[in-house]
Amino acid sequence: MPVPAPPRPVMSRGVLGRLVVTAAIVVIMLAVAVIALKLGVRDEPDPTASGTGTAAASAPPAASAQANSAQANSGQATPAPPASARIQAPVTSAAPKPRDDSPQIPRDPADLGVLVNKDHGLEPTSYAPENLRTLNGQQLRADATGALEKLMRGAAKDGHNLKLLSGYRSAAEQDALRNSYEQRYGTSYANTISAPAGFSEHQTGLAADVGNGRCDLEKCFGQTPAGKWVAKNASKYGFTVRYPLGQEESTGYAYEPWHLRYLGSKTSKDLVKSKAKTLEQYYGLKP
Ligand code: DAL
Ligand code: ZN
Repeated sequence: MPVPAPPRPVMSRGVLGRLVVTAAIVVIMLAVAVIALKLGVRDEPDPTASGTGTAAASAPPAASAQANSAQANSGQATPAPPASARIQAPVTSAAPKPRDDSPQIPRDPADLGVLVNKDHGLEPTSYAPENLRTLNGQQLRADATGALEKLMRGAAKDGHNLKLLSGYRSAAEQDALRNSYEQRYGTSYANTISAPAGFSEHQTGLAADVGNGRCDLEKCFGQTPAGKWVAKNASKYGFTVRYPLGQEESTGYAYEPWHLRYLGSKTSKDLVKSKAKTLEQYYGLKP
């Protein structure tokens, strides 16, 4: 009886050998990739760290453009939670030194140059301006209204149809707005976009949030043609873009390319001449 041939191996030794070598190569490549990845992460600058020249827009949990424009229409226009993921701040050299020849900081809330920020509240905190005028269903101090109308005419000549989205807000309105942000986003995020009552420029009647329907109350407004026009021309009409990109430490607030502050033509021109990027720097505070 013939002896049956032994069963053929499923895999020849040669094939098995090649498989082992291939598996070893794959394992080595994976190890190299993991090491490279770790090194790369360590070298990458932290975009939120100060001094990198990058402003990271920290998106709140439920940012919604509709919510912002709804508030704008109801006269409660506010700093918009950022919709855009990241906006690059221009890389700047070391922060300027505080000026020695800084002007005196006016404390009278009716003074066009009054400084209002987290450290400089209105006195009294219940302050309400006189001579308010209505424009686009919003109110502003009469002198600021006239200047804003001129700015709007200048913008219109260049093809930008700007509107006043939010102007004067009473202490009570500011308080309600601030509370709504705290409830929606939490106190620490609200601190970066909204002032407490008694600490908002809007309460002076000298602050104007402007927009033309595109990126209204959003950081991306600064990158639109209208936003660029505003940044370039506001000072010619006595205004300053009060919360510039990359100056969050100086102003205490996130970038708001839509928030104009009326200073009057003398101070706004003097501010440009001084090369200060913020009112705080102009007054010799917070470089
Ligand atoms: N958005 C500015 C900081 C304000 O609430 O007055
Ligand atoms: Zn504003």
